[in-house]
Amino acid sequence: MSAPEAASLLRMAGGATVFTGAGMSTESGLPDFRSAAGLWAGVDPIAVASRRTLERRPEVFYDFYRKRLHHLGGAAPNIGHHALVAMERAGWVKAVVTQNVDGLHQAAGSRRVIELHGNLRESVCIGCGDLGHAAQLRAAIEAGGLPRCLSCGGLLKPNVVLFDELLPEAPWQAAVRSARASRLMLVVGSSLQVTPAAYLPLETLEAGGRLIIVNREPTPYDDRAAITIRASAGSVLTEIAALLGQDAAAGAQK
Ligand code: APR
Repeated sequence: MSAPEAASLLRMAGGATVFTGAGMSTESGLPDFRSAAGLWAGVDPIAVASRRTLERRPEVFYDFYRKRLHHLGGAAPNIGHHALVAMERAGWVKAVVTQNVDGLHQAAGSRRVIELHGNLRESVCIGCGDLGHAAQLRAAIEAGGLPRCLSCGGLLKPNVVLFDELLPEAPWQAAVRSARASRLMLVVGSSLQVTPAAYLPLETLEAGGRLIIVNREPTPYDDRAAITIRASAGSVLTEIAALLGQDAAAGAQK
């Protein structure tokens, strides 16, 4: 299957909820998690990125996040992010529901972004819940210290959902509404292995909608997708946006 079939399905559906994972950002130089070169290759995620590790072995937790924040520092949106912005502006994207915490969809100009797993822009105190800018946290961990809340002295963490933490309710409910309301979900760059996020394609299917999956590797939902495209997000999304843009151009000439 290919981009023209995907564009055709988008036209018939009148647009889609887009669901993205870390594979959306690898072309921006950020590693994903479960590819051969991903962040979890040879690493137990629970041992480095869980709430339990933050509380019991903060030095291990912050060592992992120091590297992650450093990676993020130089990352910029790629052609795939920009293609989704063009599609949103033309009315083809109802919302971008993302598992990513890198903020690259917003940096590219996407307006309706639902962050299921939080973001690395902010820090939050695990003692009093105070929100702050991640710059203070980053400065502290780069200096080799433990970032502490200026209000209560509690430990700060990046404002992301850690393993053994619950997803924030409001983004989850917004994502479910969007998935149920769309006749089509376009999944891009996710292994669809982490729940509850990976249940979202089910919401679209159970509401009578269809799936398009763009992913370099197989996913557990491939056999339920109307279209699966085993290729890179950037090139596929750019081709889909161009095909839909031709519609608009043709429409404008009528
Ligand atoms: N184009 C298309 N697919 C890609 C690309 C690309 N440029 N780069 C990587 N991929 C694919 C990989 O083959 C992989 O199947 O994207 C998928 C990314 O899957 P994961 O690494 O599992 O990332 P994700 O699905 O976002 O993980 C979900 O797991 O650890 C948690 O909180 C973390 O949000 C994350 C969640």
